[in-house]
Amino acid sequence: MIRRARSIILRYSTTALIAENFVAKTAIELSELGRWVLASCDGWSHPYALYSAVPASVHPALEREIASLTAASLLVCQHSPAAAQDQEYEERFAWGAIAGYYHFSIRGTEYMDPAQSAARLVEKSATTEAVPLHQDNQGYAATIALPRPELESDALSLMCRRRSYRGFSDEALRLDHLSECLFAGLGITGFVKPFAESEEQLPFKLTPSGGGRNPYEAFVYARRVDGLAPGVYHYSAREHSLGLVGEQDLPSVAEVLAGQRWFEHTAALVLLVANFERTMWKYPHPTGYRVVLLEAGHIAQNILLAATARGLACTPTCAIDDRQAVRLTKCAQLTQSHVYTIALGNRSTIPTVMDPLHIAHNSSSPVAPG
Ligand SMILES: Cc1cc2nc3c(=O)[nH]c(=O)nc-3n(C[C@H](O)[C@H](O)[C@H](O)COP(=O)(O)O)c2cc1C
Repeated sequence: MIRRARSIILRYSTTALIAENFVAKTAIELSELGRWVLASCDGWSHPYALYSAVPASVHPALEREIASLTAASLLVCQHSPAAAQDQEYEERFAWGAIAGYYHFSIRGTEYMDPAQSAARLVEKSATTEAVPLHQDNQGYAATIALPRPELESDALSLMCRRRSYRGFSDEALRLDHLSECLFAGLGITGFVKPFAESEEQLPFKLTPSGGGRNPYEAFVYARRVDGLAPGVYHYSAREHSLGLVGEQDLPSVAEVLAGQRWFEHTAALVLLVANFERTMWKYPHPTGYRVVLLEAGHIAQNILLAATARGLACTPTCAIDDRQAVRLTKCAQLTQSHVYTIALGNRSTIPTVMDPLHIAHNSSSPVAPG
């Protein structure tokens, strides 16, 4: 028995119709016959039903079509691993093709070599017009000057001091500093029942969360942390403790971060892993996917600010080798995904090639009022 896979998108290349299974990450050109086969196999169907619907002269072509659609996971055979994955997608990935196409398509992205990427930027800035990076108020009906922000206040002065910096010293990160960073990002400060009959207690954290669903878990890849053997640890926000996930076959930081050699001296990486089903449970609409991605930014910012308060070096990074992230965290479910990483460590006085040599406005007076 065969069935059309659930995670299919049809799109055109210049001349051909392409069928793509975005979960299996496969794509083929779709013939007229292939399109008919896919349209005919919405539910589990016996291939004989297809053969009996076309003249005998078409049978050889139909046989080839079914074989190539099956090889590309556009058709799945009942009880096969591909059918099991397809069913899991259908039952558990509530945001469907709208969020799924983007989410699964960017998984396993191969990043450009840093030297190539730097050369591309130099070439691009020489050959294309710069895109404006701020918008002024000229042209609006009126402009209202705002009071000068109190930059000396605790919150603003801390925020002004935060800067991405990748020059890490070889000194071990203190465990209490790591503890504060994890608490700032994911710590629980209380529980609340969302409604009287609810069985659930929603955790209240230091960061806001859509519907209070708090989809993120953090994993620490400890390289040099006082009191921790090198390894991967899960942070339990409820217990405020670390659970050892693994300490064997540890990759270099550059291997984890898709070749970014400037992170090599990082003492610890905090990997944020989203559990989509927590948010899907309340928000079945695909905008829930956006909610989850936004929350990674809140958590990361709190970790960065806690690190800044302790004078640590810290930088967020999106680029990661997804296979390494899965291997380290052992989070391999269809509805889980690593989203964001924060590199932490003590500061070295030696910046990396990625750290700006010249900052145009000093951070103590970033606003030019009036
Ligand atoms: C979503 C996001 C992704 C980033 N990814 C990387 C990265 O892959 N590698 C890196 O070295 N820095 C990365 N950064 C850090 C930026 O380069 C940095 O924030 C930017 O240069 C502005 O500097 P600032 O953080 O000091 O304000 C990222 C920042 C953000 C917000």
